Amino acid sequence: MTFEDYTRDWLGRAEAKLEAVLPTVDESPKRLHEAMRYSVMGGGKRVRPMLVYATGMSLDVPLVRLDGPAAAIELMHAFSLVHDDLPSMDDDDLRRGHPTTHKAFDEATAILAADALQPLAIHVLATDEEMQCNLETRLKLIELLASACGSCGMTGGQSLDLGAEGKQLSTGELEHMYRLKTGRLLHASVMSAVICADRNHPEYQALENYIDHLGLAFQIRDDILDIEGETETIGKQQGADIEKSKATWPALFGMEAARKHAAELLDKALTEIEILGPSGEPLRQVAHYIVDRTL
Ligand code: IPE
Ligand code: IPE
Ligand code: MG
Ligand code: MG
Ligand code: MG
Repeated sequence: MTFEDYTRDWLGRAEAKLEAVLPTVDESPKRLHEAMRYSVMGGGKRVRPMLVYATGMSLDVPLVRLDGPAAAIELMHAFSLVHDDLPSMDDDDLRRGHPTTHKAFDEATAILAADALQPLAIHVLATDEEMQCNLETRLKLIELLASACGSCGMTGGQSLDLGAEGKQLSTGELEHMYRLKTGRLLHASVMSAVICADRNHPEYQALENYIDHLGLAFQIRDDILDIEGETETIGKQQGADIEKSKATWPALFGMEAARKHAAELLDKALTEIEILGPSGEPLRQVAHYIVDRTL
């Protein structure tokens, strides 16, 4: 099966679940609901849902049980993007080829839409019936996502990112920032499917190592694309990181080193999941996509 064969199903599932769980725009407060939908629907690669489904396929979890976790993680991701783009953070005007939420609406509405996406994500994990899981499993999923987004996860990473503007970080400091701001939600994507598989997997540690390498590679690729991508293709303003003197792998160590490191991380990720044999194929496909993507 090609990557396109896999993603046709995965993306269809993710879009349908997101569509179903988001409040409709006829419901009050209409403008807030419009902004929530605007921030989530109509764009985005849906890499986190892809990772949930790919891991689930590799572990034989029926995909219908993963629609809730995939949507919940994507909702949290969308919240992080809305805040990331605010004038007080990266101050970006373009996201997924459209005006950022605070540009399309206003700053207060963008903040509130992001605020409302977070509890919606938790609500989905707490209530989605198609997950067909017991309360203990739900609690584990909620805890995984909550900690991935907190001060020692994505939000903490965003704080480190802002503090690092214009600074010369060490490799260790940069990796730590990447692991938090980007890696933790990707880790939660893989481990949500592991939790739903609900049995003791000898592959557990290999999957954690796989996504640790790939999380770093994902952000390095994002940073490379900020420099050499086209605004029309990446759907974000090219050159935004240089403009803000962001601490990134290519800025600190050069483009060639960044490219080489992403390739090394891909190799390491692929080696980790050799233990899965042929059933690891969906995860291999996603790994290549993450490192080779052009948007
Ligand atoms: C962008 O994430 C933010 C980072 C963590 C680098 P994505 O590249 O997954 O953005 P979308 O969801 O496809 O727009
Ligand atoms: C953002 O990293 C990570 C998040 C938690 C949103 P970036 O600031 O590099 O993401 P983009 O390039 O704006 O998508
Ligand atoms: Mg940022
Ligand atoms: Mg940004
Ligand atoms: Mg970026």
